[in-house]
Amino acid sequence: MNTGFAIYDDGVSFHDGDLWLITGVAGFIGSNLLEYLLARGQRVRGLDNFATGYRANLDEVARTVGPEAWSRFDLIEGDIRDPAQCLAAVEGVSIVLHQAALGSVPRSIADPITSHDVNCTGFVNMLDASRRAGVRRFVYAASSSTYGDEPNLPKIEERVGRPLSPYAATKAANESYAHAFNQAYGLACVGLRYFNVFGPRQDPNGAYAAVIPKWVDAMIAGQPVAINGDGQTSRDFCFVANAIQANVRAALAPAEVTHAVYNVAVGEQTSLTELFDLLRAGLAELDINYALPPCYRSERPGDVRHSLADIGKATAALGYTPSHTIRDGLYAALPWYVSHQKSVAQL
Ligand SMILES: NC(=O)c1ccc[n+]([C@@H]2O[C@H](COP(=O)([O-])OP(=O)(O)OC[C@H]3O[C@@H](n4cnc5c(N)ncnc54)[C@H](O)[C@@H]3O)[C@@H](O)[C@H]2O)c1
Repeated sequence: MNTGFAIYDDGVSFHDGDLWLITGVAGFIGSNLLEYLLARGQRVRGLDNFATGYRANLDEVARTVGPEAWSRFDLIEGDIRDPAQCLAAVEGVSIVLHQAALGSVPRSIADPITSHDVNCTGFVNMLDASRRAGVRRFVYAASSSTYGDEPNLPKIEERVGRPLSPYAATKAANESYAHAFNQAYGLACVGLRYFNVFGPRQDPNGAYAAVIPKWVDAMIAGQPVAINGDGQTSRDFCFVANAIQANVRAALAPAEVTHAVYNVAVGEQTSLTELFDLLRAGLAELDINYALPPCYRSERPGDVRHSLADIGKATAALGYTPSHTIRDGLYAALPWYVSHQKSVAQL
C-alpha cells in the first residue's frame, strides 16, 4: 500500500555510490526516510533492534517501493548500545541518518537509566563508529525538548534553557557530544531539532504514544480523547515529509552548514483544543463523525507549556521550506490511519 502523500522532491542531486545508514529504520521517522531514499534510487542500510519499531513498517515500505528498490536495502538487526554492532553497521557508509533512540518524556521519567543507555551511550557509539569509518556526514535526530524551561517564543537555536526531563537531558547531551566529535575528530555533524513530528506509521499504541496517533485512533474507534491540561498547551506540529526534507538537505548540503543544529518544524502554533477540532473535521471528511467532547485532565510532569519554532536558520542555511502545514499533513495522514485501523481490525 502506498502511504499516499507527496514528499519532498525538489530536484535533489544525490551523489553516485553513496551508501546511507538509517538507525531506527523500523520506527516511524526511520521507515519514512527509508521509503523516500529507496524510491529515489539510493542504497540504504538499516540498523534497528525493534525496541519500539516494527517489522510491519519495513514490510509496508517493501510493498510501496517494489522489489527492485527493496533489493537496494539491507537490514542489520542490532543494538546501538553495542559498539561492535555500530562499527559493523557503518562499514562502507557515507551518510548516517541517526534516528534510533527511546522517545517520550514519560518513558524517560519512568526509566531514566534505559533512556540514558540508548540515547546517550548508543549515540556516542554511533559517533565513534562513524568517525572511525570516515563517514562523510552524520545527521542526527535532536529534539525541541532541549529548549526546556526557556520561556521565549518562537524558539531560536542559540537560546536554550535547562532540560525538564531525562529525555530532554539525553537530547541536549547528544548536541554536546556532536560538538565534541566535530572539534576533536572533524566529524561533520548536523543536529535536527524535531518539533512534534507526525504522519503515517507513527505508533498509536502503548502508554508512550504521541498525541496525534493516539487521538486519531481513539476517534476512529469512537472512544474518549483525553487532553492533558486546559487545552491551551500548544505545539508546532510537523508533518513527516518536512522532517524528511530536512534530513536530505542536511545530508547533502555543503560542509559549511554542518557543525550546527537546526529547528525542524513549520513555524505554526496549534493548541491541543485546536488540534482536537482539526482532527475531528478531517475525520468527518472521511465519513467518520466523532461526537464526544474531549475530557480534560491534569498536565503531565516534564511537558513544556508552549512550543513554536523559528525555522529561519534552517531555511537560510539548508534551503528548508516546509511542504506541509499541520492541516495539509493531517489530511495527508488521516487516510493512512483509517485504512491501517481497518486492516488491523480485519486480522
Ligand atoms: N516523533 C517525534 O515527534 C520526535 C520529536 C523529537 C525527536 N524525535 C526523535 O526522532 C527519532 C525517531 O523518532 P520516532 O518518532 O521515529 O520514534 P520510533 O520509536 O518510532 O523510532 C525509533 C526507532 O529506534 C529503534 N531503537 C530504539 N532503541 C534502539 C537501540 N538500542 N538500538 C537500535 N535501534 C533502536 C526503535 O526500535 C525504533 O525503530 C528519535 O531519536 C526521537 O527521539 C522524534
